[in-house]
Amino acid sequence: MLIQENISLKLYNTFGIDVTARHFVSVSTIDDLKQILSLKEYPNKLVLGGGSNMLLTRDFDGLVIHINLKGIEIISEDENAVIVKAHAGENWHEFVLWCINNDFGGIENLSLIPGNVGTAPIQNIGAYGVELKDTFNSCEALAIETKLLQSFYKSDCNFGYRNSVFKQEAKGQFIITSVNFKLSRNFHSLNINYGAINSQLELMQVSNPTIQDISKAVISIRESKLPNPKEIGNSGSFFKNPVISKTHFNTLLENFKDIPSYPISEDQVKVPAGWLIEKVGFKGKRFDDYGVHKNQALVLVNYGNAKGNDILNLSKLIQKTVERIFGIFIEAEVNIL
Ligand code: EPU
Repeated sequence: MLIQENISLKLYNTFGIDVTARHFVSVSTIDDLKQILSLKEYPNKLVLGGGSNMLLTRDFDGLVIHINLKGIEIISEDENAVIVKAHAGENWHEFVLWCINNDFGGIENLSLIPGNVGTAPIQNIGAYGVELKDTFNSCEALAIETKLLQSFYKSDCNFGYRNSVFKQEAKGQFIITSVNFKLSRNFHSLNINYGAINSQLELMQVSNPTIQDISKAVISIRESKLPNPKEIGNSGSFFKNPVISKTHFNTLLENFKDIPSYPISEDQVKVPAGWLIEKVGFKGKRFDDYGVHKNQALVLVNYGNAKGNDILNLSKLIQKTVERIFGIFIEAEVNIL
């Protein structure tokens, strides 16, 4: 294992922010990971997966551990289902494509989400009517304190909207090393109810879709709305969609007749943050090298050499403005360092 000094993290975060790690190591085995975690000379450590949910605002004066554990294996299978284990450092979308090529169903709606397999459970990634938790079977995670591997089953994970035990009680205590998914084979139950998928399938003239068609439809929708991080730095949705009371919503309806909402419970609704941000005028706004994406107001972008703090300050301005106009606080989904 090579511990490097003064390494730029630009290629290790999808925002493409150029900050420096004092020390950097890439680990490809669990034994190496245990050994690195035991090193007393680096008390300050930061674990990086795909870097797709992180805004870096400063140089890191410690050791960045890049998780590069690779491999995909079939653990068990029967006529209708298969358990597939994917190691944490596998790229999420490449894993989705591997499943689709093998005709294993369940994660096709999650095509083209940036990031790695190991970080996907932390925020329970979701898109187009499907969340990671729907196919999650279990994961293995290394306890940072004891260096012991521990299994987490679905019931241990408290999955919620962009949330899990790994963002709450267990935050910062574990490194996920692999995830087991339960996927369908032979008979797939498809999720095409999300409006945009249906219309995209129609456009593709597909009336009897396969999981391959759904993946293609999702890829087209995402490519039309969301910037490719390889071309324009971004971290997907910067904010979560807020949940507000129906009473609050009804008051807003008086002034904003077209405000969209999705029912959550008898007295709560979810409102798309993208709509709120667009309504207060930030969609497509560019300031120097950073701004708000022109096709999806939830996404903040780095056009080249933006500083993490520029983007952080813009996010605060957006939060303040949305709160002032609508009385709604929109929480950041992205982790800030
Ligand atoms: N909208 C606007 N203006 C915008 C964006 C959205 O008015 O600029 C409104 C529209 O009314 C639209 C509604 O918001 O009908 C919903 O928009 P969209 O279908 O694009 O979904 P979203 O709620 O904005 C969420 C996820 C995305 C995911 C999509 C599709 C969150 C925070 N974001 O966005 O996830 O791809 O649904 O399922 O829940 C991500 O997490 O990085 C991400 C991209």
